Amino acid sequence: MPKHLAIDGGTPVRTSAFPSWPVWGERERELVLEALDSGNWGELSGDKVQAFENRFAAHQLARFALAVPNGTQALEVGFQALGIGPGDEVITTAYTFIATVSAIFAVGAKPVFVDIDPRTNLIDPSLIEAAITARTRAIVPVHIGGQPCDLDGVLEVAGRHGLPVLEDAAQAVGAEWKGTRVGAIGDLGTFSFQESKNLSGGEGGAIVTNRQDLHDLAWSLHNCGRGPASGTFDFERLGGNYRMTELTGALLLAQLERLEGQMAVRDRNAAILTDGLADISGLEPTLIDERVTRHAWHLYQIRYDAPAFGGRSREDFIAALIAEGIPASAGYVPLTSIDAIHRSRAARRGRWPGHDLALPDDAPRLRRRHRRYPCHLPQGRGGVALVKAATQGAYHRGEISRRPPRSK
Ligand SMILES: Cc1ncc(COP(=O)(O)O)c(C=O)c1O
Repeated sequence: MPKHLAIDGGTPVRTSAFPSWPVWGERERELVLEALDSGNWGELSGDKVQAFENRFAAHQLARFALAVPNGTQALEVGFQALGIGPGDEVITTAYTFIATVSAIFAVGAKPVFVDIDPRTNLIDPSLIEAAITARTRAIVPVHIGGQPCDLDGVLEVAGRHGLPVLEDAAQAVGAEWKGTRVGAIGDLGTFSFQESKNLSGGEGGAIVTNRQDLHDLAWSLHNCGRGPASGTFDFERLGGNYRMTELTGALLLAQLERLEGQMAVRDRNAAILTDGLADISGLEPTLIDERVTRHAWHLYQIRYDAPAFGGRSREDFIAALIAEGIPASAGYVPLTSIDAIHRSRAARRGRWPGHDLALPDDAPRLRRRHRRYPCHLPQGRGGVALVKAATQGAYHRGEISRRPPRSK
């Protein structure tokens, strides 16, 4: 590489630290202290979680929102509400965070992977039908990076087979498909408010839906199986304790007030980055479907084409970016290559026939890529670089460098 790259001892593009995330202030202090001083620290006695649920539902254009401790448990409660259990199959993608499938395992079901569209990193609806079996109980599109999946395509095939759709919208708060916010476009949607997320409570999660039956069932499941009018020891079913604390509810209420402003900054910075990347061949941002009316820009995802950079590996490229002061990281490791999934107790116990967890269920394209790339790159020549330069604090404060992060 030429001398002037920071990795070779040159001056970095950016010398000051990227701003940190999350961002908070007086409002967070005020609401958290209010919850603290009220002495009502749990959802059963306080009003903060309820207020957050109401406002979050309104924000997502959903009839109902149910707050839970994190996004993983939001998925678990969602699957239970859909009646998914041992022996069942759930269709999703392997290009996601592990929680999408650990929640499927947690209810005793089996994930069946459908390939992504390499241009979007999102589930390819045209491949879903072939993965449906008599055991399929749900389809879980994942709006990875905050980019909505082709929900028309997913809902069409789901509708034809009478299958419910649970949107894993952990990264997609505020994102829109054809003007409607994701989450309640399918039957259910789940969100994460873990500390890196666009809306953060440190930890936290929510389930949204427009269906009264699913909301009521999820509410009961998250509150130990109680019914709406149950006393402390009346239980309508077996459930669990998936209640959020009032302190988290208070924090999220304050953070929600900031969200629209922060989203506008993400939109603006993503546009700057897209514009800046347009003249750099070999860096291809994900293709955004014109029906996506708003991207949440949790991640800015770019495919890296090594030949355009003289064959330099994706890892070299990321190291060079980081040396320039631009945070960047590799994409998700496809879940089919994660050993822990194959070694899971559920897999060993053989809760499903054949232990055929991974490759036999993969669409051929994913399989092909697995063979071709020892580091399990999920797509394309040269693989994926998930460049986070414009995410989190950097996005938020509008501090994206316009200088291309490479030398000619
Ligand atoms: C796609 C996806 N699904 C589920 C989760 C789980 O959320 P949590 O970390 O709040 O349990 C995450 C969190 O990172 C995620 O990115």
